[in-house]
Amino acid sequence: MAQLWGGRFTKETDQLVYRFNASISFDRRLYKQDIEGSMAHVRMLAKQNILTEEEKDKILEGLTGILKDVESGELKITDAYEDIHSFVESNLIDRIGDAGKKLHTGRSRNDQVALDMRLYTRDEVKKTEDLLKDLLKVILRIMEENTQTIMPGFTHMQKAQPITLAHHMGAYFEMFKRDRLRLSDLYERMNYCPLGAGALAGTTYPLDRQYTAEQLGFYGPMLNSMDAVSDRDYLIEFLSAMSTIMMHLSRFSEEIITWNSNEYQFVEIDDAYSTGSSIMPQKKNPDIAELVRGKTGRVYGALMSLLTTMKGIPLAYNKDMQEDKELVFDAIDTTKGCVALFTGMLDTVRFCRERMEQSARHGFTNATDAADYLVNHGVPFRDAHGIVGRLVLYCIEKNIALDDMSLEEYKAISPVFEADIYEAISMETCVNKRLTVGAPGKEAMEKVIAVCKAYLNEQTV
Ligand code: ARG
Repeated sequence: MAQLWGGRFTKETDQLVYRFNASISFDRRLYKQDIEGSMAHVRMLAKQNILTEEEKDKILEGLTGILKDVESGELKITDAYEDIHSFVESNLIDRIGDAGKKLHTGRSRNDQVALDMRLYTRDEVKKTEDLLKDLLKVILRIMEENTQTIMPGFTHMQKAQPITLAHHMGAYFEMFKRDRLRLSDLYERMNYCPLGAGALAGTTYPLDRQYTAEQLGFYGPMLNSMDAVSDRDYLIEFLSAMSTIMMHLSRFSEEIITWNSNEYQFVEIDDAYSTGSSIMPQKKNPDIAELVRGKTGRVYGALMSLLTTMKGIPLAYNKDMQEDKELVFDAIDTTKGCVALFTGMLDTVRFCRERMEQSARHGFTNATDAADYLVNHGVPFRDAHGIVGRLVLYCIEKNIALDDMSLEEYKAISPVFEADIYEAISMETCVNKRLTVGAPGKEAMEKVIAVCKAYLNEQTV
C-alpha cells in the first residue's frame, strides 16, 4: 500500500477501507495530466526561488522518465498505489531520491486532482467537437446530394407535407451544430487553472499562479481557492452537453431504425453496420442504431448522478467528489464512441429515394397545397379546408391519390378547380414553392447549405 500520508496514524489502514478509498483503478488514466501539471508546478517553484534550478532539473528529468516508461509499458500503474498522484510521486522519489520529496511543495492533492481532471476534460471537449464536425460533414454531403429527393414530412408520425431528404437532414445539422457550440461555450468557461489553490486556502509560498496557468494553456488562474478545489460545474455542463448530443443521436437513431424497417424501407443500413440473428436467417438488424439509442440512458444517468452527488457538499473539498471520475469517463467514452459509430453508419446508409417519393405521393401530403390553390382562386381558407377534406375522403374511398382524380371529379366537388390543379399539387411544386427562410424549397435549401458549408470551413478545430 503506497500512500502519501500516515504520520499521524497509529494503525495501518484496514484493507477494505484502503480499497474503498483508493481511486487508482480509474484515475490511472490521468497519468499524463498529472505529470504535466507537476512539471508546470515545478518550473514555477524554481522561477519563484522556492526550488533550486538543480532540484527543478532533477525533478523534470525524473518526471519525463516516468511518463516515457508508462507510455512504453515498461512502468505499470498498479493497484499498489492509492491514486495516480501517489503513483507519480512515489516513483519520482524512488528514481531521484530526496529532491522528489519537494515536488509537492505548495500543493495539495485537492488542487492537483482538480487540475488533472480539468486538463483531461478540456482535451475531451475538443475531441468531442472534432467528432461532431465529422458527423456534420456527412450530414452536409447528404444534404447537397438530396435537395430534390422528395419524402413525406411527418407530424404525430402521420404523413403531413412533402419535404426533401436535404431538409430533413438539415434539421439534424442545426442540432449538432448547436451541440458543438455548447461545447465551445463551456470550454471558454472551464479553461481557468485551479493549481495553486492548495487544500482550500492557497499557500504561504509566493506561488505565481498566472505563470502556471499560462504554461498549461489556461486563460488564467481561478480566482477563489475554495471554488477552485470544489468546482465541478464544468463537468456537469459537459455531461449536460453530452446528454443533449446523445438525445439528438437517439432521436436520429430512432428514425433510422424506423426507416430501415420492413414497413418503411426508406433506407438500407450497410451490412457493415448491421447484425444478424442467431435463429432467423432473413434478419438484418439495426443493432448499432439501437445501441446508440440505448446508451443515451447511461449518459443521462451520469449527469443525474453527479448533480445528486454535488448537491449536499459543503465547501470546500470532500471525498464525495472523487465520484466524478468514473461517471465522467464513462460518459465521455460512450458519447465519443456513439458519435463516431453513428457517423460511420450514416455515411454508408443507402437512401431508397423511390420509396420515399412514393410514400410522399400516397399520403395526401399535398392536401395543404390543394387548399392553397383554392385560396389563390378566391376561396376563403376555412371553406377551402372543408372542400379538400371532402376530396381526401373521396380518394380514400376510391383508394387513389389526389393527383389521380380526373378534372371532372374535382369539378364535381368544387367548380373552382381547373386543369392547372395537377401542376399546383405536384410534389415538386409543393416542395419548391416553399421558399421562406428555413423551408425545403430547392433555392431556400441551397442558401442554407451555403451557410452550413461556410460554418464548417470557418471551424478549424
Ligand atoms: N482521489 C481524489 C479525488 O479524486 C484525489 C484528491 C484527494 N484529496 C484528499 N484530500 N483526499 O478527488
